[in-house]
Amino acid sequence: MCGIVGYVGHRDAGPVLLDGLRRLEYRGYDSAGVAILEGENLTIRREVGQVSNLAASMPERTTSHLGIAHTRWATHGGVTRANAHPHADTEHRVAVAHNGILDNHQVIRRNLEAEGVVFRSDTDTEVLPHLIRKFYQGDPVEALRRALSEVRGTYGVAVVFADHPDLILAARNGSPLVVGLGEGENFIASDSHALVRYTRRVIYLEDGELAVVKSDDVATLRLSGGRAAPHTVEELEPVYGVEGKGEFAHYMLKEIHEQPESIARCLRGRVLPEEGNARLGGFEMSPRDLLALSRVQLLGCGTSFHAGLVGALSIEGLARVPSSAEIASEFRSRNPVIASDGLYLAISQSGETADTLGAVKEVQVKGGRVMGVVNVVGSSIARSCGAGVYIHSGPEVAVASTKAFTSQVTALFIFTLMLARTRTLSPHDASRLARALMEAPEHVRAYLASPGPIQEAVRLLVAARYALFMGRGVSWPVAMEGALKLKEIAYIPCEAYPAGEMKHGPIAMLEKGTPVIAIVPQDEHHERTLSNIQEVKARGASIIGIFTRGDEEAERLSDVALPVPVVDPLLTPLVTVLPLQLLAYQAALALGRDIDRPRNLAKSVTVE
Ligand code: F6R
Repeated sequence: MCGIVGYVGHRDAGPVLLDGLRRLEYRGYDSAGVAILEGENLTIRREVGQVSNLAASMPERTTSHLGIAHTRWATHGGVTRANAHPHADTEHRVAVAHNGILDNHQVIRRNLEAEGVVFRSDTDTEVLPHLIRKFYQGDPVEALRRALSEVRGTYGVAVVFADHPDLILAARNGSPLVVGLGEGENFIASDSHALVRYTRRVIYLEDGELAVVKSDDVATLRLSGGRAAPHTVEELEPVYGVEGKGEFAHYMLKEIHEQPESIARCLRGRVLPEEGNARLGGFEMSPRDLLALSRVQLLGCGTSFHAGLVGALSIEGLARVPSSAEIASEFRSRNPVIASDGLYLAISQSGETADTLGAVKEVQVKGGRVMGVVNVVGSSIARSCGAGVYIHSGPEVAVASTKAFTSQVTALFIFTLMLARTRTLSPHDASRLARALMEAPEHVRAYLASPGPIQEAVRLLVAARYALFMGRGVSWPVAMEGALKLKEIAYIPCEAYPAGEMKHGPIAMLEKGTPVIAIVPQDEHHERTLSNIQEVKARGASIIGIFTRGDEEAERLSDVALPVPVVDPLLTPLVTVLPLQLLAYQAALALGRDIDRPRNLAKSVTVE
């Protein structure tokens, strides 16, 4: 969703800000803008559409060394230039870029209008520059503190003042902000991805904090007054692999093909086949703690929820600890009972999803133990949980999540192995599973090198009015993930059902030629799913079969056969999801969709 970048230092601010905005494009946005200080005046440029439109409206070089920039994903007010950020006060002495939502903006707006302020946008944000200007009497920090004390809601804000040529103020309440530390220059951003070209040293602002950022100094204060607790300077993760799209037409395809490496990174140093065990340092749980767990509940949204479902099935199935997964937005709003001897796992690629963060807080406020399974290092969920596991997928830029899913699932399998070792698994069986996990990247590589007749399946899908995905056990969340991918980037109407549910309703949807994507690997559900395939085939469905290589029966029933490598039955999601990712990608390509930035979606959903 919205993104913020700010720069103060010796470089030309314009190109630095545009570069930062380009790196935030993947988050999803509909307009972009910059405010830079040129001489004694703030120059604001805003454009609807892509950052390239904004770049085209700007000179290649500017004479500015200070500025803020923003990508907007519309919430309050339509997608117009006037609603794009940054917003300024009437005399253009203060400019503000804002992420989040100000709940009481209407009341403030009415009061300001009564005082004679004329608003130029429909946004909630515009109240901020007017309020700051109203309270400004030479002290920018005091003006921002007073303005923010008037608003309710969430914000990450960046503010520049025409009277202060070496100063950016940044403040946070519920929307992430990171300060990047350079030599004679400093940066702010809502996402550290914007900064990687310039610095790897960052500090993360906490809620209720304000940063005073100058070219040679950064100070952090409490919004309520006084200094903030000292921050540790953190190092950003190295950039893995090739930056940009490399040889691939889209980030999504690149990220699909990065999975052998991203899964291997997630496994590295954590799985110990010789010892028949696994280690997740960040979990900070002794075998005794693991043994005492009464239940494990996994929380996430979208793809991360699907990974959670796979994790819950594997934890309960193998470690015999009651386990379930729940959509974070539902969990946080239903006043859940929290088990004091349970473990809650918050799963999130971005680490910024508002609902998942809300679920973390719900567990914490009731005294429960919650840990993160997160990709982005230093993100809000990772820091709120304080403990957990980083999946180390590297930056995922395409809106549709692919490599994060397989790494989340891998991390949950590692946890399952650790937990099961304290209860059900013999050293021998644990070694076998550990070895199978270590071999997973090679199986993924082998499949991606030779993915089978994806185009034949795509022809069935793009001609269809409706498609159905089905599977049992861990293949059910995989089916859901396949359907989500196809909806999200190809916009093909489809849904996913446990194969056992077909006769309870969805089978009525089938007509001659309806594509049914059946996920039927060799596991304990195999026979029953095969008979479900027979049932749907008898109703005229065209079967796109995803099954374990060598399974002649599944192959015979499939109109399009997409065999996947032979892996341990528990680990099948790591390979069965691959053809589904490719199917969605190729169908979207055939339909001319905007694959990396599908309509209406944002990479990081930072509002409820
Ligand atoms: C689907 C997708 C979304 C995300 C969801 C949660 O391809 O990307 O469904 O999985 O918005 O995001 P994170 O994992 O960042 O919490």
